[in-house]
Amino acid sequence: MKITVTAIKADIGSVGGHIKPSNRVLKAVENYIAQHHQGALIDYRVSFTGDDIAILCTHTQGPGSASVHELAWNAFKAATDVAKDQGLYGAGQDLLKDAFSGNVKGLGPAVAEMEFDERTAEPFLFFAADKTDPGAYNLPLYLAFADPMYCSGLILSPGMFKGFKFVIMDVEHTEADKVIELNAPEELYDIAALLRDPERFVIEAIYSRDTGEQAVAVSTTRLHNIAGKYTGKDDPIMLVRVQGAFPATGEVLAPFHLGHYVAGFMRGSHSGPLMPVRQNSTISFFDGPPVVSCAAYCVHEGRLTAPVDAFDHPFWDYVREKISEKAIEIRRQGFFGNAMLPYSELEYGGIVKKLEQLESKFIVRS
Ligand code: 13P
Ligand code: 13P
Ligand code: MG
Ligand code: MG
Repeated sequence: MKITVTAIKADIGSVGGHIKPSNRVLKAVENYIAQHHQGALIDYRVSFTGDDIAILCTHTQGPGSASVHELAWNAFKAATDVAKDQGLYGAGQDLLKDAFSGNVKGLGPAVAEMEFDERTAEPFLFFAADKTDPGAYNLPLYLAFADPMYCSGLILSPGMFKGFKFVIMDVEHTEADKVIELNAPEELYDIAALLRDPERFVIEAIYSRDTGEQAVAVSTTRLHNIAGKYTGKDDPIMLVRVQGAFPATGEVLAPFHLGHYVAGFMRGSHSGPLMPVRQNSTISFFDGPPVVSCAAYCVHEGRLTAPVDAFDHPFWDYVREKISEKAIEIRRQGFFGNAMLPYSELEYGGIVKKLEQLESKFIVRS
């Protein structure tokens, strides 16, 4: 059976700062979908990571379906009214436009979706990150799909010997989608050369070169490119199909033990290590650290199983402690050098004004 898995997430307000949505707002999203999904969806789950709410759903209408996107948009709109009623911080934060226009892309919410022929067993992972941007997935995906040091399947599983095709987007090109397709392993160094700059080049999708099937879909939204100013971090979501011709679940999870430094953290303007957390975790230290959660599912005829919380395991408690040390270490450096993002990535316009004022006080020695 051909089905589409669509994930749409938005920050529509949170309690006590950029920390966590309220129970009422979450319920409002769920209730709206429960009441209006007939005819549009087969199944759905609502979850949150930090201050972001994600709607994961299945249907048969293909990616970019206006009715599915509109349902999610309207659910977020309805719940934003609740957020306003509760006086939540940043109510409606990611709903950047007033009216729905066929697709939530470009309106603020992040989208990751893919259509595929269901395999007999169809396991997949749903990742949701907060306080970071879509380039945060570059390194773990590179390691899981192109590096046998992390993905043993590349040398053990014949279905993976041909490698994977990476579709990479230049997210600075805002007039239209600008993408490149590169094959691993032949073009590994070209892939690496692009992925090393995660603020500009972002993996959008990955395909098996053996079956041609899509394995990965990442949301590539950059909010400041839509709004023209800082409105919040992009907080990316991602779908990854696993097993068979794709890496095993554990191979996809493994690179997240690194806690690699990503852009985001406080005011979307710092570097911090990406910490794998349980689903429905909140945010704390320095509006962070940047976090990622992972729900593992199987889907059959569009029906979703209850999720398994992939980072809820004693192993990841140890990893979280190590990553906390990394977070504290870089925070000791405050605003200095690599601890804060370069000028081009700073999400707060205030510093631009400050530098303009200082410019007039500079003197050029002759
Ligand atoms: P099982 O033999 O338990 O199915 O595991 C196979 C596998 O790929 C583990 O990574
Ligand atoms: P969010 O993008 O998660 O709303 O975070 C914004 C922020 O400024 C945190 O300090
Ligand atoms: Mg927020
Ligand atoms: Mg957020």
